[in-house]
Amino acid sequence: MPKLFVTDRDGQERTVTGRPGISVMEIIRDAGFDELLALCGGCSSCATCHVYVDPDYADQFPPMSEDENDLLDSSEHRNSLSRLSCQLHFTEDLDGLRVAIAPED
Ligand code: FES
Repeated sequence: MPKLFVTDRDGQERTVTGRPGISVMEIIRDAGFDELLALCGGCSSCATCHVYVDPDYADQFPPMSEDENDLLDSSEHRNSLSRLSCQLHFTEDLDGLRVAIAPED
């Protein structure tokens, strides 16, 4: 199974098994990272699934939608690596993906 490396808000990195076909948010949440609230359940309306994607993997995801872009604009912690993890579809090809959970807004 492909793996992801997830860094929490304390800077601790954990290896998580990824399941192709679901979102990166679901993988992180199901792995027990309570700090990734994902309050809207993935309907792109809360921005509590904000992560920073390792630049080596950033271009493996489709460009963000206008809705994702607008939601990320509501975060004080947005940077050039920001994505909503509920909008990132995980695949086998993403084995080794590194993401960090963004600070809480
Ligand atoms: S879970 Fe709400 S925007 Fe991603």
